[in-house]
Amino acid sequence: MKKPIIPFEEIGEERLHTMIDLFYDKVAVNPHLAPIFPDDLTETRRKQKQFQTQYLGGPNLYTEEHGHPMMRARHMPFPITPTRAQAWLECMSEAMDEVGLDGPLRDTYYKRLVLTANHMINATEEDA
Ligand code: HEM
Repeated sequence: MKKPIIPFEEIGEERLHTMIDLFYDKVAVNPHLAPIFPDDLTETRRKQKQFQTQYLGGPNLYTEEHGHPMMRARHMPFPITPTRAQAWLECMSEAMDEVGLDGPLRDTYYKRLVLTANHMINATEEDA
């Protein structure tokens, strides 16, 4: 039997954490995203590292500390428009480039993020 490939292990914890830090550096200065995020992103970065670890098949760090992810519900307090979802994905795509994530691993990961980001949309441009 071939050992299953775990994306978290393929990417590696250090590279994943670097990618998430680069991502939030971009979010903090993005005109569409910055207004809905807290000024201090320390805790947000920490939670996202926990979440992405489990999203990619690593240990369930997010759930152990915060319970069921219920991502759509947890995003309801923030108006997430199609423009914001696109901006979020662009920040993530740039962060992926900067840590040299490429090939099928990146494609599969990014496609999943597109689906999750689209699922998070809860407002029209007029609502925002
Ligand atoms: C939290 C925005 C997509 C995972 C947040 C917060 C905002 C936000 C404003 C709250 C930050 C805070 O108060 O600390 C957005 C926008 C998205 C998006 C605009 C565009 C579609 C995603 C996606 C994922 C994700 C695709 C996962 C794949 C998380 C996690 C948290 C979070 C894990 C922390 C939840 C917690 O407080 O426990 N997001 N998000 N987000 N987001 Fe997103």
